[in-house]
Amino acid sequence: VGQESQEESVTTPSTKNPILGFSQLGSESEWRLANTSSIKNSAAESDVELNFQNAEQSQEKQIEAIREFVKEKVDVIAIAPVVETGWEPILKEVKQAGIPVIIIDRLVVVTDPSLYVTYIGSDFYEEGRKAGKYLLDKIPKSNQSTGIVELKGTEGSTPSIARGKGLRDVISSRGDLQFLKSENADFTVAKGKEVMKKFLQEKGRDIRVLYSHNDDMTFGALEAIEEYGLVPGKDIVVITVDGTRKALQKMNEGKINLVVECNPLLGPNLIQAVKEVVKGSTLPKRIVTPENVFTQVTAEKEIASRSY
Ligand code: AHR
Repeated sequence: VGQESQEESVTTPSTKNPILGFSQLGSESEWRLANTSSIKNSAAESDVELNFQNAEQSQEKQIEAIREFVKEKVDVIAIAPVVETGWEPILKEVKQAGIPVIIIDRLVVVTDPSLYVTYIGSDFYEEGRKAGKYLLDKIPKSNQSTGIVELKGTEGSTPSIARGKGLRDVISSRGDLQFLKSENADFTVAKGKEVMKKFLQEKGRDIRVLYSHNDDMTFGALEAIEEYGLVPGKDIVVITVDGTRKALQKMNEGKINLVVECNPLLGPNLIQAVKEVVKGSTLPKRIVTPENVFTQVTAEKEIASRSY
């Protein structure tokens, strides 16, 4: 018996698979669906067990899901936050429970940076700047003003705030480039169409540029533009962000002038980060995903290899 108990007390490395609780903000766009698939597939190919919760655009639901993860004592929590603010109290609860947090896709604004380990995702401000640089080249400086309308995403969300600011910062010296209208359209096709229709009713042919913060709103807006009797890509310069296959196809048809890429395939980065955190490694505070821009010249080549 003595012999047996001695053998039992020898420490063996833990064989328990790490459990990741992931609060996804919703399923509003093609980008989001690709993002969810990437994370689910990467988890399935690894030894990380995924507890996936979709909050359908509700911060309250995200907070409930996070509390549930804490109760279940998951090893790591990942959050794709629907908006930037209002996270500090729940993140403090998670910190007290000793569970590391990874922020993915969108940012949280907190006074205490130790509330999360790393933030993985795109540089949305740079995406806005890329759109602005294209606009400066596309519309030569003139004495006559050029009317821009903007479809913003979800109010208070990082991509909407930063894409708007990035473009404005780049074109600020060009007084001839004038915003006629700017409204939130929630990153969805239906809202994009509804808001663009309203813009056209109010401003008609004065609209020369559409800056849309994502492809889905752009698809809705393209319908509104065509129904109004204008030709997207010609009468109205169309700039979109994301780079789904469908957007590249629309670009190939001449209906979109510029696609600024936003990469949804964050699964491999996230799962790698979870493994590192569980091992106790220190991660960089910010992990930025590399991204491209596509014009009508480069879109066709890209379509075939696009997985989303
Ligand atoms: O946070 C990323 C943005 O959210 C994508 O650009 C958009 O399509 C999504 O809904």
